[in-house]
Amino acid sequence: MARKTPEELRSHRWYGAQDLRSFGHRSRTAQMGFDASDYRGKPVIAIVNTWSDINPCHTHFKQRVEDVKRGVWSAGGFPVELPAMSLSEPFQKPTTMLYRNLLAMETEELLRSYPIDGAVLMGGCDKTTPGLLMGASSMDLPALFLPAGPMLRGHWGGTTLGSGSDTWKYWADLRAGKITQQDWQEIENGIARSPGHCMTMGTASTMTSAAEALGVTLPGAASIPAADSRHAVMGAHTGRRIVDMVWDDVRLSTILTRTAFRNAITTVLALGGSTNAIIHLIAMARRIGVNLDLGDFDELARRTPLLANIRPSGTYLMEDFFYAGGLPALLHNLGELLDTSARTANGATLGENVATSTVFNDDVIRSRDNPLVESGTLAVLYGNLAPDGAVIKPPAAEARLHRHSGPAVVFENYDDMAARIDDPDLVVDENSVLVLKSAGPQGAPGMPEWGQLPIPKKLLEQGVRDMVRISDARMSGTSYGACVLHVAPESHVGGPLALVRDGDVIELDVAARRLSLAVTDEELEKRRADWQQPAAKYGRGYGALYLQHILQANEGCDFDFLEAGVPTPEPEIH
Ligand code: FES
Repeated sequence: MARKTPEELRSHRWYGAQDLRSFGHRSRTAQMGFDASDYRGKPVIAIVNTWSDINPCHTHFKQRVEDVKRGVWSAGGFPVELPAMSLSEPFQKPTTMLYRNLLAMETEELLRSYPIDGAVLMGGCDKTTPGLLMGASSMDLPALFLPAGPMLRGHWGGTTLGSGSDTWKYWADLRAGKITQQDWQEIENGIARSPGHCMTMGTASTMTSAAEALGVTLPGAASIPAADSRHAVMGAHTGRRIVDMVWDDVRLSTILTRTAFRNAITTVLALGGSTNAIIHLIAMARRIGVNLDLGDFDELARRTPLLANIRPSGTYLMEDFFYAGGLPALLHNLGELLDTSARTANGATLGENVATSTVFNDDVIRSRDNPLVESGTLAVLYGNLAPDGAVIKPPAAEARLHRHSGPAVVFENYDDMAARIDDPDLVVDENSVLVLKSAGPQGAPGMPEWGQLPIPKKLLEQGVRDMVRISDARMSGTSYGACVLHVAPESHVGGPLALVRDGDVIELDVAARRLSLAVTDEELEKRRADWQQPAAKYGRGYGALYLQHILQANEGCDFDFLEAGVPTPEPEIH
């Protein structure tokens, strides 16, 4: 492929002309302390940085961006740091998912409106990875993703702690009286003790690993702990590589093919990754015009083994995974389950990148002869309760619940559930099916991670640790249990979930991929005639825009007007 000339750079339109406007661009660059020799004829590289004082997963980005800039400078590029919305999972309410598409819009428009030739995208905390990649895909410049890297293992007394998973575990123990308030306080102080994203196989590790499998990071980038000096080295390598990608015009659309997305799905399944990846990968694919749906996930789940022994599905944490060889070693073990001919951002194929990767601990990264689970780590369910699909992670559920039928205990919304779940008079037993409505993309709104409904306290005290729970919500990747999620269409728009009443029998059959409500069609029609849509929560601002345009879970929860379509023209420079 012919290399670009300096005159063919996109930024040349801003800097190269001899007119009044380009005089302004050059004089204002001089105002920032740069000589023309710093940028003339060089690719301008945006470093989209989702650092924020309130995002604990990205605290190192202030320093790390300097490593990326070092790489860009050394390769003959001109780095420009562009801060973007941070989407801090623990703090942003009601849920970061409400804002993923806003970050995607911001990323796209930053890249479009400024003199940018290529981009390094710095993210990692849950929604930042899909948000950045969705936006960059719509702009379709050369772009490389730099994952934040996982934090170090958590620690309490002699025990290793994992983000999320151990929060739920010890919270249940505290409620059941098995640990003290003092223990709980010590766990609070030891569970997150370094920069970096959650170090279990939650949404962050899932999505950064998916990005690497897609080929939009440098090989090995997703597994390096944020606190490891090799993360800084990876930052510099990323900065260097993006400059060459600009000269060679390696755009995201040349990497993000259907093959790449199916490789990413296989990888997520082999990792025991978060169900959130389903929504994000579908949204990312649709942005770049790739056809991907729930059927791809169910099909690949039937043949993909679980190889990564990482919590919540396994025992270890991301730090152990890195020492065991990291994602390249896992990809190597997947062998022909991946299409290794897929091209990646470093110019090599996926197969070439992992050809010599080695596993250093075969309990952490299993071989295909010794998987944790043979297959079926995810199942897509259909039935009269979920005409457009719902999902479950069968290995996260007690096996006795894979085929279950029981009477519904219905909560109309989150507040209703919070008010009644621990009521000693709630009519519920271990065979009941807990149902939460109004937790979907429009209903909550923002489809929060409420899908792991709490077990009622009186059942916890009896030793019950799992029950069938159904909602149109998502679930944190670090959660577990027999939770049926992403029911589509959601209850708020009149999906059948809206019509469920206390005592209705619900049948779950994972092997048959079925989720059904044992209520006649006539009765459901009667209930539908009486049903009234709950009031919309937002009447103005971003929330109102969100409610008008959000798509359902099986479609990726993007805004309808952001999906692939007629290209947006380049800005006029007047
Ligand atoms: Fe940022 Fe979990 S809170 S990844």
